[in-house]
Amino acid sequence: MSAPRPRRLRASEAMRELVAEVRVAPENLMAPLFVHEGIDAPREIASMPGVVQIPLGSLAQALDGALASGVVSVMIFAIPVTRDAVGAEATNPQGILARAIRLAREHVGDRLVIVADLCLDEFTDHGHCGVLDEHGAVDNDATLERYAEMAVVLAQAGATMVGTSGMMDGQVGAVRRALDGAGATDVGILAYAAKFASGFYGPFRDAVESTLEGNRRSYQQDWRNRREALREIELDISEGADIVMVKPALGYLDIISDARAASTVPVAAYIVSGEYAMIELAAAQGLLDRERTIMETLSSVRRAGATIICTYWAIEFATRLKERTL
Ligand code: PBG
Repeated sequence: MSAPRPRRLRASEAMRELVAEVRVAPENLMAPLFVHEGIDAPREIASMPGVVQIPLGSLAQALDGALASGVVSVMIFAIPVTRDAVGAEATNPQGILARAIRLAREHVGDRLVIVADLCLDEFTDHGHCGVLDEHGAVDNDATLERYAEMAVVLAQAGATMVGTSGMMDGQVGAVRRALDGAGATDVGILAYAAKFASGFYGPFRDAVESTLEGNRRSYQQDWRNRREALREIELDISEGADIVMVKPALGYLDIISDARAASTVPVAAYIVSGEYAMIELAAAQGLLDRERTIMETLSSVRRAGATIICTYWAIEFATRLKERTL
């Protein structure tokens, strides 16, 4: 028997393409968009080079760019001008998020899956993902009532799915019941099922001008716990999640792999702001080959088991993949 030679399958570009186990296609990439109520022109986010906040007036153009790139989904976040203790603007049908979703739906119809972020943190003056009790702790069940109301407002505005990102217990069930109760049985839930209390969200908090003091460790997951993530994923599926998401992605490939193995719903992963910034800043310093390391990163998340990758590289890389400029 001659020696095994795995290198035969790496000998040419054609051979490598033939045996590749995963690919990244534009359709795998979901593009986050930040709509800001208080600006007139797109504004760079200092901590996330290449990512902008846009006014509502630029959303149609941004959606055209998404469509042209070949992505089939967007995740819409909004930054309101006024914030208060309960995040009233989150449930205002004339608030910036509802207006953005309405405009998006009118502009693209069903050509894009429009995911509306469903959380209170951009809308509360204390910056937490929920409402607080008299001791200043996040009140889980009072928050569920706010989420239920928010889900109905977003569904009526035209969201295809809501992205439940607040990590309250029972949020998927509460949102599902509210949607069904309002007749929005077709509106889906993209559940941030395993969301960790990550330091890698730092730049995002700039992007949404977060006012948070302290941290979210009493509701987001402890990054040391793999089995607990599975529990969160199972709970969300039992409550009616249509898609489960793991967040962040790169330090959590084991969780993505577990999510895929343990479920029959699609798995998504979110390459978060700090993961994005690490690569962008290192590439800008000439330390990394930018396009190559981004493709490696996207491929790793696909290989771990995610079908959908929410990423700030979505539109650029969907375009590159489509035009084969990689
Ligand atoms: C909270 C939320 C966060 C992100 C999206 N929605 C994180 C947080 O502040 O806990 C992070 C996204 C990123 O870092 O790219 N609703």
